[in-house]
Parts: sequence; structure tokens; C-alpha cells
Amino acid sequence: MRNAGIEDPESESQIVAAEVIGVSRPRVALLLDSVPLQGFEARFEEVITGRLRRVPLQHLFGVAPFLELDLVVNGDVLVPRPETEILAIRAVEILRREGGARGAILDVGTGSGCLSIHLAKSLPAFSIQAIDVSPAALSVAERNGAVHCPGRIDFRKVDVLGLGPDAFQGLDLVVSNPPYIPSAEIRTLEPEVRDHDPISALDGGADGLVFYRHLADVAVDWVRPGGWILLELGDGQTDAVGALFRRRACEVSVEKDLSGRDRVLIVRTSSACAA
Ligand SMILES: C[S@@+](CC[C@H](N)C(=O)[O-])C[C@H]1O[C@@H](n2cnc3c(N)ncnc32)[C@H](O)[C@@H]1O
Repeated sequence: MRNAGIEDPESESQIVAAEVIGVSRPRVALLLDSVPLQGFEARFEEVITGRLRRVPLQHLFGVAPFLELDLVVNGDVLVPRPETEILAIRAVEILRREGGARGAILDVGTGSGCLSIHLAKSLPAFSIQAIDVSPAALSVAERNGAVHCPGRIDFRKVDVLGLGPDAFQGLDLVVSNPPYIPSAEIRTLEPEVRDHDPISALDGGADGLVFYRHLADVAVDWVRPGGWILLELGDGQTDAVGALFRRRACEVSVEKDLSGRDRVLIVRTSSACAA
């Protein structure tokens, strides 16, 4: 695996063994030493062969963790990333801190449904809409929604770039992890991302900012004064995206991820934003 360019082959081998046997990682060594496991070697080999072709583990197992959730994933959705968990956690904290017993949330570009499902489970009185342009992604999100929070999320096929400022009104929160990779950079990404995440989940246009520009134009009007827009950011995008929302007279702050990179733009609207 090391020769294939995989960053941490030891720990990935343990994950594969644990998943194939169906036990926790700490028990793997113990079991492999003591019990002859039927079918283990063939399945282990199959998954390792997939990894050597740089297929992500999440695709090989068809499941990805996101906070408390195990989500079904396939090549039609972006594999949920740990960085995005920060956005989800902060969104829940903000709405709980405000004490709002009920309200409305929109998830733009829902993919696997990770953000909207976590929000639905954490904020039981909020109504949640989740949109995506990809019917195939929506069917994965609906499947995950049916397992984790049946009936809670209104999933719809919508092209956000076709929506104007009147498409929604009075929302408390808009969350989005939009496609944000500049088009020309996609071919430079690791094979796990470049060849296995859908292009529509990655491509943010020539400068990576197409979706942020549009959301700054229209989403500010979807949110009530004093409401919130939380957006995941790509590397080096903080100033440009922050400026788009400051131009709309919104308050803007930034949250870093665990590696110290700016990761979430937190936008608070005011009545001046809608002017
Ligand atoms: C970076 S992925 C995020 C998926 C998921 N929210 C997450 O955080 O893992 C972006 C998502 O936006 C969707 N998308 C791309 N273009 C879109 C558009 N014009 N309108 C709505 N959704 C779009 C993609 O299909 C993809 O599911």
C-alpha cells in the first residue's frame, strides 16, 4: 500500500481487517491471532486491491461516518469529510444557543445528506429542506434520511444557481458545503478525490467561487434578519468569500478546522443585509 502512495497503510490495513471481520479495531490483532476466520483472506485481499487502485475505503465498504451517523455512500455523492463536521456542530450550537424552539433550515448541495440529517436529529422541532442538482445524489440522501430521521427532511432536486432572492423567505439558517475547487485544480487532486468524488460535487468554476458569489447574491435574502448562513470554505478562500458577504452588510466570522485552516464562514444577517 505504501508503494501505491497511500499515506497511512498500517492504520488503513487495520481498518480493513476490522471492517471485514466486523469487530472494533482494538480487537483485530487478538482475533486474527486466535480464530481462523472464514472468508477473511479473500475479502481482505479484495478490499486491499481496491485501495491499491486508490478507491477510498468509504466506497469499498459503501459507508462513511459523519459525527454520530453511519451514512451510505457511493460514487454519486461526495464522501462526507471530517472538516464538514465542524460546520454541522457549529450550526447546532448556534441555533440551540439562540433558544429557538422551532424554525426553518435549508441545506444547499446536500450530497449524502450528512448536514441535514445531523441537523434534523439534533434540532427535532426545526423543519429542514435539502436541495441538490443531482438526482442520483438525492436518492442516496433520501435513503440515509429514511434510516436516520424518517419524514424529517424535504429533499428536492433544485439547481441553486437558478434560484433568485425570492426562492425562500424567513429561514433561520442556510448551510452549505458547495463545490469549491477551481476547475483547473481538479486534475491535481489525489486520485481518491479526483477519480471517485463526483465532479459536480467538486467543481466551483474557474476561481472556485461561483457558488459563494451566487449565495451572497441570493441566500442573504432567504434568511430572516439576525439569521445565519454557514458555509464550508476551501483553502485560501476566506478573504474573497468574506468580502462577498460583507458587501451585503452581513457580520462575518471564521472558524478553523483541527489542522488550523480556516474552514467555516459564519455569516449573520441583519435588516441592513436585505437592503
Ligand atoms: C461538496 S458536495 C457537498 C455534499 C454534502 N453537503 C457534504 O458536505 O458532504 C456539493 C454538492 O452540491 C451539489 N451541487 C452541485 N451543483 C449544484 C447546483 N447547481 N445546485 C444544487 N446543488 C449542486 C453536488 O451535487 C454535491 O452533492
